[in-house]
Amino acid sequence: MEFSFVEELVHRLKVFQAMATNVVTVSPENSLRDAQITMREARVSGIPVVKDNIMVGIVTIEDIIQALDHGYIEEPIDRWMTRDVVTVEPNWPLSRAMSILDRTRFGRLPVLDEDGRLCGVITPESILRALLTELNRLLARDEKSEVTIETLESEALRLRFEIEAGDYDRAGLASVQLKRELASRGVEPALQRRVAIATHEAETNLIIHSTSGGTIIADLEPESIRLTVTDDGPGIDDIEQAMQPGYSTASDFIRSLGFGAGMGLPNIKRCADHFEFKSKPGLGTRLNLRFDLKPRSATGQVQPADAIPSL
Ligand SMILES: Nc1ncnc2c1ncn2[C@@H]1O[C@H](COP(=O)(O)OP(=O)(O)O)[C@@H](O)[C@H]1O
Ligand SMILES: [Mg+2]
Repeated sequence: MEFSFVEELVHRLKVFQAMATNVVTVSPENSLRDAQITMREARVSGIPVVKDNIMVGIVTIEDIIQALDHGYIEEPIDRWMTRDVVTVEPNWPLSRAMSILDRTRFGRLPVLDEDGRLCGVITPESILRALLTELNRLLARDEKSEVTIETLESEALRLRFEIEAGDYDRAGLASVQLKRELASRGVEPALQRRVAIATHEAETNLIIHSTSGGTIIADLEPESIRLTVTDDGPGIDDIEQAMQPGYSTASDFIRSLGFGAGMGLPNIKRCADHFEFKSKPGLGTRLNLRFDLKPRSATGQVQPADAIPSL
């Protein structure tokens, strides 16, 4: 079965990460009128009834309406509350609480710890809040993905990406960020794409083939974009063989993740205007690429630099 991103998220998040903890409660000896007032003030439609720190029941807006209808609103909560409350545990996956909410149509599920103490309440609102917080956290993590930007003396802009070996989850992130940067500088889309494809391939090679990761440096110069990709090993024995379309040393596991088609290096070469690939077994691998910003005219002359708005 294939999980969507959100499904995966609600399986991974625990109930305690998604519950509201500022829970308003009432005592069983309070009147239903008291409960009504408390609910209105707290803007909630149901509240746990707690005695000596132990949850003994729940009253909801439905109970209040019934009490108003039938004239017993001044009676103690104890007489009318629901006693067998459906509850959840803090360490359950959030998905389990969500399916109970869905099935029962209850508006809230009290969360009880091992000792039966009320430690929070799961509501649709608390779930939404938790999902948004988690999404924000994930996005922030992606944004900070080891990219640094500096301006060089030559006025060129240098982006540096540190790529971790084995970090399959984030494969493609450097290329997306670089492409975004190029787009914001008005680089034409076809060139953005070529740079992004080459970066993506170089990035995955660092992730799947390097021993301890490597670095991608992108220099955005007035007339070209230069990419320098380096790692400290293991290096390549036979560069010519590595360049062959379809040649790959990737393991079955890596192939099962969708990498290792052996087209990376040929793709990179195809995309770049200048391609240089060097490697020494035991020392490391270095890839130098250049992408020209301006198409060269038939006579080989470079067109004026002001053809490119912000570079
Ligand atoms: N940075 C690197 N370090 C060591 N070996 C590499 C590196 N990049 C590529 N290789 C070798 O070159 C081969 C071909 O690379 P590539 O064309 O990108 O195909 P793939 O990554 O799908 O295997 C790889 O299988 C690997 O053996
Ligand atoms: Mg590759």
